[in-house]
Amino acid sequence: MSLHIVILAAGAGTRMKSARPKVLHPIAGEPLLGHVLNTAMALQPERVHIVYGHEADQVRAHFAHADVNWVLQQQRLGTGHAVAQAMPSIPAEGQVLVLYGDVPGLQAATAQTLLQEGSEGLAVLTVHLDDPTGYGRIIRDESDAVRAIVEHKDANSAELLVQEVNTGFMAAPAGLLRGWLDRLSCDNAQGEYYLTDCVALARADGAKVGAVVTDDPMQVQGVNDRQQLAALERSWQGRIAQQLMREGTTLIDPARIDVRGQLGVGVDCVIDVNCVFEGRVELGDGVHIGPNCVLRNCRLGNGVQVQAFSHIDGAEIGVDCTVGPYARLRPGTQLGNQVRVGNFVETKQAIVGDGSKINHLSYVGDAQVGRGVNIGAGTITCNYDGANKHLTRIEDHAFIGSNTALVAPVCVGRGATVAAGSTITKDAPEQALTVARTKQRSITAWVRPQKKPKS
Ligand code: UD1
Ligand code: CA
Repeated sequence: MSLHIVILAAGAGTRMKSARPKVLHPIAGEPLLGHVLNTAMALQPERVHIVYGHEADQVRAHFAHADVNWVLQQQRLGTGHAVAQAMPSIPAEGQVLVLYGDVPGLQAATAQTLLQEGSEGLAVLTVHLDDPTGYGRIIRDESDAVRAIVEHKDANSAELLVQEVNTGFMAAPAGLLRGWLDRLSCDNAQGEYYLTDCVALARADGAKVGAVVTDDPMQVQGVNDRQQLAALERSWQGRIAQQLMREGTTLIDPARIDVRGQLGVGVDCVIDVNCVFEGRVELGDGVHIGPNCVLRNCRLGNGVQVQAFSHIDGAEIGVDCTVGPYARLRPGTQLGNQVRVGNFVETKQAIVGDGSKINHLSYVGDAQVGRGVNIGAGTITCNYDGANKHLTRIEDHAFIGSNTALVAPVCVGRGATVAAGSTITKDAPEQALTVARTKQRSITAWVRPQKKPKS
């Protein structure tokens, strides 16, 4: 049976009190709907159908590159009505899996189990909750088979006591599902076409109705407001932290790390508190990240030490480098091995060779720095002339004195020494000392100004 996944995402998300559609709010750096789409794609379906309605343009624009069938639900008449909108694009021989755009945690393996259960009849995913308020209740018969789902607002006092609830995830053969959807009525407390009524209709037809019970509430946790968004984010991060520790990373406090993307780790990494990882970050073996660092889209080689309050974005760092504290590595930074970048140093589009040092208070941008170079405190590459960016080249073993301005395009030759306080506008030849500052002089007859007497 070809798999068709229907993702319901037409809800208004009123309780988020947001100009942004609910399904675009992020968990772990990825929109809610993005997580659901990733799970859907992992199941290798024939087609994914997203039922949308509210803030349609923003949602579609965000997923413009996704290969999905966008199905507009003009009026929000209920979950059954929403699924029905997608049915014309689904062949009767197919199988349908219903997911929710605001429930991001479902894992592909759980969906697989549900699909197996729902290969001949209707299958629902259920969970036991201490507080089932608001959810549809799973009503089972004497033989423990699922007889119906009763929505909270339609439930009687006995039904309200049931703690097994409907997660909303459902699987069924398309032909059967279409038949049940056609027969739904909106004669209920909310005047909506309930997808959940398919259960009773299936039973009436004598079709098989199965339930898969999950014991993992996080997989079925939906987001309706910002408190739930924050709570889910915390449990999600907790899960990532556990995984990192299983892979051999020491987290000084597993409750104080945020991974908003993919973090790959070698063995024996240590991550101190309050670090944020964004995009794709790869750490080699024995990498040590100090407290309060932000790392985005970067790769760090074995043994790299990143000290507190450093910000690394779009950089590649070789083995045994030391960065920070308070360093900022911007996109296009490539550090060789054993490079040292110290406090209040900013780099951008800078290739720095093995063993070079930029220890304090410098800006190195649009630069090629060789091996064994020492860049003194306060060195600035003047890479921008107000219109264009220019390259600074510093060859192997050059020594740049403190407070040097390198006005690009310019080259400092191999083994050259640049005197402190120089403004270098022309190439500095190799091995030589280049001094480009006014000569020091002393005026012996100098008299300090005196304060004027008060009149
Ligand atoms: C639904 C289930 C309930 C279950 C709960 C789990 C029904 C009738 N009830 O209730 O049994 O316990 O989810 O969270 O199915 N949507 C549309 N178009 C619509 C209506 C809804 O796309 O016309 C989408 C929403 O955006 C949302 C999902 O369907 O993603 C669920 O809708 P919602 O109104 O939140 O259903 P609940 O009342 O919570
Ligand atoms: Ca809901």
